[in-house]
Amino acid sequence: MAAGGWPRTLESMNEQQPIAPRSVPQRQPRLLDRIGGRAVIERIVDDFYDRVEEDAELRAIFPDDLEAGREKQKLFFEQWLGGEPRYSEQYGHPRLRMRHFPFVIDQRLAGLWLRHMVEAFRAVGVGEAEIMEVFADLGPLAHHMVNADQDVPRAPIGDAFLT
Ligand code: HEM
Repeated sequence: MAAGGWPRTLESMNEQQPIAPRSVPQRQPRLLDRIGGRAVIERIVDDFYDRVEEDAELRAIFPDDLEAGREKQKLFFEQWLGGEPRYSEQYGHPRLRMRHFPFVIDQRLAGLWLRHMVEAFRAVGVGEAEIMEVFADLGPLAHHMVNADQDVPRAPIGDAFLT
């Protein structure tokens, strides 16, 4: 997805969120089950956060306390990979791009995020076929978060603020 081509108004962003829960493709068997279910998601996200903590560049844009984000990330991935929509039940529509507006994300940070995430998937032993499948969607999604050169509101916006 090309950066810069995205709509600039909040109204249009709300209409164009790419990952509404119902739009999650339902693969059979669920990708979530093929990679090992919720237990493996927990290990992936914990491993990813360990990598973030050791990456000064990426760590700098994360809040001091990583615990809340870590738990949200687990709920989100469980849902995104075809599991129960527990993230949306607790926090509402993901509105991921908008939730990331307070963080200035450039291509380099998106690349680091993706690299740490793929390394986390490998570190916990997810198979290469599943990794290919996950990152075919996760790659474009990470680049969709790039907002550094865009005129987006950086302040918290209503319920879109990360809480
Ligand atoms: C592209 C580079 C990315 C960067 C630099 C980044 C950075 C961040 C930061 C700093 C937070 C706040 C963490 C906290 O409040 O503790 C966050 C939250 C989050 N990120 Fe990202 N992120 C990126 C991409 C993604 C992608 C691709 C996804 C989804 C696949 C994602 C999913 C989330 C979720 C679910 C949250 C929690 C949102 C909430 O508060 O409800 N992020 N991210």
